[in-house]
Amino acid sequence: MSTFKRIISAALAAALALSLCSCGEKPTRSVDEQGVLHLDLEETEVSYKDSLTDDSADYSQEALEKMKSETHYIEDSDVPALYKYFDGRVRIGVAFGANQITDPEDRNTKGIAKHYNIYSLGNEFKPDCINPAEGVYNFEHADNFVEFGAKAGAYVRGHTLLWHSQIPQWWFKADPADTRSLADCAAADALCTSEVLQERITKYITDVVTRYKDTVQVWDVCNEVLNADGIRRIADDSYWADIMGDIDGDGYYDDYVEVAFRAARAADEDAFLMINDFNMEWQGSKTKAMYDMIERLMRKGVRVDGVGFQSHISVDCDVATYRRNIEKIAGLAEVYDECFPEHKGEFRIQITELDMNMFVGSLAEKSFYKWTDEDFKRQAIKYKELMDMFMEFVDRDLIDAIIFWGTDDENSWLNSTPKLRRNAALLVDRDFSLKPAFYAIAEAAFTKTEE
Ligand code: G3I
Repeated sequence: MSTFKRIISAALAAALALSLCSCGEKPTRSVDEQGVLHLDLEETEVSYKDSLTDDSADYSQEALEKMKSETHYIEDSDVPALYKYFDGRVRIGVAFGANQITDPEDRNTKGIAKHYNIYSLGNEFKPDCINPAEGVYNFEHADNFVEFGAKAGAYVRGHTLLWHSQIPQWWFKADPADTRSLADCAAADALCTSEVLQERITKYITDVVTRYKDTVQVWDVCNEVLNADGIRRIADDSYWADIMGDIDGDGYYDDYVEVAFRAARAADEDAFLMINDFNMEWQGSKTKAMYDMIERLMRKGVRVDGVGFQSHISVDCDVATYRRNIEKIAGLAEVYDECFPEHKGEFRIQITELDMNMFVGSLAEKSFYKWTDEDFKRQAIKYKELMDMFMEFVDRDLIDAIIFWGTDDENSWLNSTPKLRRNAALLVDRDFSLKPAFYAIAEAAFTKTEE
């Protein structure tokens, strides 16, 4: 890196450090009378991302090939930024914790800002963090997150407005102060009514979507509303459908999804509103249930702009099945165009939580395993195979974002779920060196796709 570039880079990092570290009310933020958060950023802050990559970074395929035989770290400034290989074609993103973006000098924070241009928060944008008790809002982490996103020149995703998990139980109770479990409340006829739940959903979504109207580009309005072939019910740990009921009497219990999308759309006409779920990578019945539900909603006039495939897959994942299920959901683009001609061509799919469990086959029951170069190569081959498949949909204007669920192998939920084990699911190793999977993803930018 040239000396001049080094000085500029240090100055920009210092400017960002000052703004990120200052406590209390930040002069860069204000909330207007409607409740919309506004950011007022300095030019130097928004060029933070560019300052992290040296001009000498070589984006050619030859340079990428050479890098594979060397060791590079996530924050190295002479390494190309991953997202730039795909700039203008698809956004490349990452999910992280609020505690991972507090220090702009931290190597992982730099890696997040440098390599990705769409972000999710792993936990702190969920209702249990934002709205833990009736009338209590905690926007601190979400505000920091959207500000970091703006400074790093990235899109941000609001994950997630409604989910059956990480939702405070008071939402479902007749008396929010009732300390009994939901099961006990249900048995005592002490759950809230359908009308009250509609009001709570509408208030929360209106308040949150309004606040982030200027700063969140994509919302996961609803997360994981389906079981293997239809809407989740109490038996699947979800109280939404049973309390809300089948309001319009059409025989389906997805009315709460409709209420949520209508509230989000009313709060922000231009927001990109998505529904997000898992297992569609392999499960045909769930993929069909998603297609049918979204088609039904669209025909009722509910504009759902996209479907998220979470993509918590394993290294033995069958890419052909996955491709078939994306193709099925891609069929919703036609329904969308028909129902919302003024938004023709805007329906999208996103890969929202991509990671790769390595404990499969003979390793399935293990907890601690020393991953070998061979294991990492095998993982890289699978990631490349997947990326090549995604890129076909990217070039058909159907997939517009691919987001990894975690910054590095240490920061991954797969180390604690379904049990404590030392997984290796992501693109960056525990010492922050780039894994073969990282280069494999970049390599997919050079694969020719056919229309
Ligand atoms: O914050 C507490 C901490 O105070 C406590 O000491 C610690 C002890 O276990 O737990 C901490 O909370 C954990 C939280 O993550 C923050 O790290 C929770 O136990 C843990 O359950 C929670 O897991 C999150 C999970 O959602 C909850 O279902 C994962 O981090 C998060 O990555 C994961 O994300 C979900 C997506 O939102 C939806 N799709 C599936 C995906 C993976 O489960």
